[in-house]
Amino acid sequence: MNVPEFVDAKAAGRPLTMLTAYDCLWASIMDEAGVDSILVGDSLSMVVQGHDTTLPVTLDQMIYHGEIVARSVKKALVIVDLPFMSYQVSSRQAVKNAGRIFKETGAGAVKLEGGVKQARTIEKLAECDLPVMAHVGMRPQSVRKLGKMSAIQRDEEQLLADAKAAESAGAFSIVLELIPADIAKTISEEISIPTIGIGAGSHCDGQVLVGPDMFGLSGFQPKFLKKYADVRKIALEATIEYIADVQSRKFPDESHSH
Ligand code: KIV
Ligand code: NA
Repeated sequence: MNVPEFVDAKAAGRPLTMLTAYDCLWASIMDEAGVDSILVGDSLSMVVQGHDTTLPVTLDQMIYHGEIVARSVKKALVIVDLPFMSYQVSSRQAVKNAGRIFKETGAGAVKLEGGVKQARTIEKLAECDLPVMAHVGMRPQSVRKLGKMSAIQRDEEQLLADAKAAESAGAFSIVLELIPADIAKTISEEISIPTIGIGAGSHCDGQVLVGPDMFGLSGFQPKFLKKYADVRKIALEATIEYIADVQSRKFPDESHSH
């Protein structure tokens, strides 16, 4: 899956699927299953590194995980998030750091948070032929301003302006996070590039979930999340069984011995 194929899915009316992954184990499972795109999200900061927000993760850490995922994936479009403060300073900083992601990871695109306010930066990246996805609605990197990451964004005029600004600036797609379903529907109808929703209802051109959340690994359970498995429970039970087996000398048995 490359960027033009991803964009064309909208005109073809084919819903796009995206999940986040941060390592070769999960990325290869998702790729084998046939997901269209794998996002190395800066949610890495929370689900992998254990921070409370996405603010601490560094560009070098994003590149480290981005390279692993891009190398592990055969078919899906790999997108890497530009982390907090790696692009907000200037469009020059954004081009330099997005350039590092492309050179050092092999990813097919980058993502940044913002619409109107990031339009000039998106334009600069597009001028360099660096495919960029925008992210409007609830923007986790703006948590200090928004107050909390669960704050549903309802300003229709602002959201539409952000989406249109991102499209005009040259973004190839836009993530819509935590916005009312009817606003996501309007935006999806008013722009020609694919919208990828998370907590944005069923009218988006595609959907994205955080992998560890949808597998039931992280314990995060907001209203918008459908858990497709309870991997945490399976792994917990397996670990408890292993401990009991070793302690009771049930493992290893003859079949596991040389
Ligand atoms: O970092 C992330 O996981 C994301 C998705 C929620 C879209 O940006
Ligand atoms: Na992100």
